[in-house]
Amino acid sequence: MRNLFHKLGLLRKQFASCLKMAGFENAVVVKRNEDVFKPPEAVRGMKVLDRDAFTKSIKLPAMLVPSRSLQRFCKLFKKDRLTSRYASTTPSPEDKRYVAMVPEFDLENVDHLKMEELKELNVEQKLHEITMDIRYEHYKHFEILAAIMPNGVTPNSGFERVGHIVHVNLLEEQKPFKHIIGQVILDTQKTARTVVDKACTIDNTYRNFKMDVIAGEEDFITTVIEHGRRFQFDYSKVFWNSRLETEHMRIIDLITTDSIVFDVFAGVGPFSIPLAKKGCQVYANDLNAESYKWLCHNAKLNKTQLNAFNLDGREFIESELSKFVRTAPKESKIFVIMNLPGHAVDFLDAFPGLLSTEITNRADNEMPDINIFCYTFSAAEDKILDVETRAAGRLGQNLPELHKVRDVRKVSPNKDQFCLSFVMPKDILMQPKSLDRTDDLEPQAKKPRLSTDD
Ligand SMILES: C[S@@+](CC[C@H](N)C(=O)[O-])C[C@H]1O[C@@H](n2cnc3c(N)ncnc32)[C@H](O)[C@@H]1O
Repeated sequence: MRNLFHKLGLLRKQFASCLKMAGFENAVVVKRNEDVFKPPEAVRGMKVLDRDAFTKSIKLPAMLVPSRSLQRFCKLFKKDRLTSRYASTTPSPEDKRYVAMVPEFDLENVDHLKMEELKELNVEQKLHEITMDIRYEHYKHFEILAAIMPNGVTPNSGFERVGHIVHVNLLEEQKPFKHIIGQVILDTQKTARTVVDKACTIDNTYRNFKMDVIAGEEDFITTVIEHGRRFQFDYSKVFWNSRLETEHMRIIDLITTDSIVFDVFAGVGPFSIPLAKKGCQVYANDLNAESYKWLCHNAKLNKTQLNAFNLDGREFIESELSKFVRTAPKESKIFVIMNLPGHAVDFLDAFPGLLSTEITNRADNEMPDINIFCYTFSAAEDKILDVETRAAGRLGQNLPELHKVRDVRKVSPNKDQFCLSFVMPKDILMQPKSLDRTDDLEPQAKKPRLSTDD
């Protein structure tokens, strides 16, 4: 039997060194830990959370190491010891500590050099047995859920944090377990008070969604801090996506303090408020009355000022932007942010003729540049070409040569969000205004479209 264990130990070592060569060293350590520590099989399929059912006691081989040699010992036996976050319940003698080793650890397999070092470290060359008590509180949320979900049901692992709210997107097969999933998330996420699941996909113009509270309080008014600015809003009524934080920052960093910004689909202000705070002159707009309310609230909360509007985006461009540009000095730095990825490209048709000579008496070389950041999704095979073609269709001519289509993030396996940036050509702005845009001039709010993402 001892011989068999010895052979198994050697095999494991050979396997580990193969994996190491293939770059999988850590995977072995994690796998070993998972096997030893994972919750009792009896919790599988549990419908009502029974935290006590996770308690288990395990016995492990351990080395008794003088406290002062602990660091060197752990380094020397890095691959043979268990990197565990669970505490041993076997009390260690004074000035010594038990170090738990992998279950198959055998001193007979330790090479000569290491044995010599053990002597130097004053470590007794003897294997002890210790007990570890593992409880529900020791596990991470995905470990608990992986143990509970019946075979064949994928455990939920990802979620988005929006202040005290945790937002999950449960698969149909996970929904029967929604309350237990919610409770486990509440238990394991510090400061979380509410867990919600999307009751349906984002299906309206305002990009918010119906929520199903699966655990905790029904409180949707939340506070988020993004790059040092505070945003408060009712998450059930407005759009917020924490995954856009990097993109918000990228644009905020890029726009200089002496700029004038028109944020056409401003939401509760993640572009507008930091830009106003930075010193830019900001015109922020959102059609959703709730977003507008929280946008104004957030401006106050962050002790800054901006010009807020509650208009349809096209109307905002045709009135506020057009009015401003008509009299703005040539050197003005004007930026237009259009982050409504499902439809923003359609709104580009507000620009042809926006400053036609019937409206303004200035020559095109006297007009300031209008820099556009227009967001859109694409699931086409050639995504860049798709974005360019749709934008050109709305502008009535090809995009200027100096345009950029930047990949912002992956939305789903085949779909990405892009940012199209360019300086709006003056000939587009100053061409005679076309009046035959009948159907498309209708505000988007009046014609909600189905969309499955944000
Ligand atoms: C994707 S969110 C972007 C919000 C914010 N700019 C951000 O980056 O998080 C789009 C916003 O456009 C607003 N919206 C939708 N249709 C609109 C329209 N026709 N005119 C103006 N705003 C609109 C929605 O209410 C929503 O707040």
